[in-house]
Amino acid sequence: MRKTTGRRGPRPVSGDFKVAERQRKFGSNGPSVPVIGQGTWHLDNGDRAVAIAALRRGLDLGLTHIDTAEMYGEAEPLVAEAIAGRRDEAFLVSKVLPSNASRKGTLAACERSLRRLNTDRLDCYLLHWRGGSPLRDTVAAFEQLVADGKILSWGVSNFDADDLAELQQVAGKGRIACNQVLYHLQERAIEHAVIPWCEAHGVAVVAYSPFGHDEFPRPGSAGGKVLQHIAEAHGVTPRAVALAFLTRREAMFAIPKAGTAAHVADNAAAAGLDLAAADIAAIDAAFPRGPKPRSLPML
Ligand SMILES: NC(=O)c1ccc[n+]([C@@H]2O[C@H](COP(=O)([O-])OP(=O)(O)OC[C@H]3O[C@@H](n4cnc5c(N)ncnc54)[C@H](OP(=O)(O)O)[C@@H]3O)[C@@H](O)[C@H]2O)c1
Repeated sequence: MRKTTGRRGPRPVSGDFKVAERQRKFGSNGPSVPVIGQGTWHLDNGDRAVAIAALRRGLDLGLTHIDTAEMYGEAEPLVAEAIAGRRDEAFLVSKVLPSNASRKGTLAACERSLRRLNTDRLDCYLLHWRGGSPLRDTVAAFEQLVADGKILSWGVSNFDADDLAELQQVAGKGRIACNQVLYHLQERAIEHAVIPWCEAHGVAVVAYSPFGHDEFPRPGSAGGKVLQHIAEAHGVTPRAVALAFLTRREAMFAIPKAGTAAHVADNAAAAGLDLAAADIAAIDAAFPRGPKPRSLPML
């Protein structure tokens, strides 16, 4: 069995319950956060009521880490509606665009996101990817927002190990809560340098597009059959198996996007799933890590 050192809630007993949710410390100074969360990119594309019901179902099931961004169209107001009256249950994350990430621009972007999310604080605020603004300016804004109580922590997204090292030089040790990066079965580049760097420095690694955005292995493919076999043995879906594999290391979190309550419930099952060492070995063989690419892949 996979060794799980993260905290667990009670096991579910039956019916429409709050499922057991594996939680881990979010970075070296952060709170305990569920290993499986919820993404919101393109969640505003479909039926609004269905999307809000999906997010709320996720909260019910303990998927309280909700990831959004100023870039995601109408996702922030949609999240606001989903968490109305339940703000304290959520670990709410949003992101500033690099084009807004000057010192003043970051402060203003955060105010806009707080308004759109109808909240007084973010649990974590991220730089969406590295752009032209000097890191020291963005960090100064993040630290001011922390001092003002508008964000409780900050992190980055799409940073390679050398960018993280440079950022830590600027910010000091223990300040970077997380790095949110592309990670799915067919894109394991972060295993080469990003995850080891983050593990060594107490930075949470959040896997985005954990289903490959829209490239989840097809049921009839060789890899799809491996996932199906393991899923049947555990009574879960292949997607839950994939999420459990991606969060098998202690620094890892994942934020799948699901547009329906049924999909959210499928994904929530990953939180209670312990893969056997043989399962992990089979997935590792079916979806090999591959060589280290020259630059960090991103969507
Ligand atoms: N920091 C960054 O640069 C960055 C970049 C990309 C994404 N992200 C974040 O990561 C989140 C997740 O990534 P993503 O949205 O690109 O894609 P994803 O989570 O890899 O995949 C989403 C797709 O999977 C489907 N799906 C989810 N659960 C399913 C289930 N149980 N059964 C069948 N289909 C299911 C969804 O369909 P339905 O909608 O029909 O459920 C959707 O088509 C984003 O929403 C965003 O918050 C961050």
